[in-house]
Amino acid sequence: MIELAPSILSADFARLGEQVIAAGQGGASIIHVDIMDGHFVPNLTIGPPVVKSLRKITKLPLDCHLMIENPDEFIPAFAEAGIDWMSVHQEACRHLNRTLHLIKSHDCLAGVVINPATPVDTLSEVLDIVDYVLVMSVNPGFGAQKFIPSTLHKMRQLAEIRQRRGLQYRIEVDGGVALDTVADVVRAGAEILVAGNAVFGHGDPTKNAEALLKAATEAALQKV
Ligand code: DX5
Ligand code: ZN
Repeated sequence: MIELAPSILSADFARLGEQVIAAGQGGASIIHVDIMDGHFVPNLTIGPPVVKSLRKITKLPLDCHLMIENPDEFIPAFAEAGIDWMSVHQEACRHLNRTLHLIKSHDCLAGVVINPATPVDTLSEVLDIVDYVLVMSVNPGFGAQKFIPSTLHKMRQLAEIRQRRGLQYRIEVDGGVALDTVADVVRAGAEILVAGNAVFGHGDPTKNAEALLKAATEAALQKV
């Protein structure tokens, strides 16, 4: 099943609540929350207090993408604030197995993320414990960057491994997903589509979400 997860990074933070609700009215079924620490990535965003406020205005699952060093230190606080799904970067975790189990111990779905330069092979020992794998299709840190097409083969590879090993994880893509790239990522196997600029960067988030989901669903139908 294809789902759209708008990234609030490109929203107007002074109108965050109404923009999230608008995206939901367009069919978005997950809200993607980008957490940056100025160390793992060269940018800063938000922390648990904003998540706590968001939790009050939407029932949609909140998908927290942790782009931070030492994520173990912050996982409990984000879980407490109301996050439902949490993903950590393979590149940021010295003890990835332990960190994924920490996320699960807080009753959140656990995801692992790989940067464009990180191969899928680095995940072989955790694919059986994650609920989802997030393939970055831009280098993390900023919204509205250009999609990197060489990341598509990793979505295909993850779909193939899942089938071969009889696993259950879902495949998420993040970065540069827009009307001109959405069909490619869906055909490659992505099922959860993060989109920031394409939903909140211009115009009406409701209409933008509807248009993206329509294009994604059409591409999924062509696939079978
Ligand atoms: C980038 C973030 C993304 C970003 C996507 O570091 O992880 O979630 O908001 O934005 P777009 O869709 O504009 O590339
Ligand atoms: Zn993200």
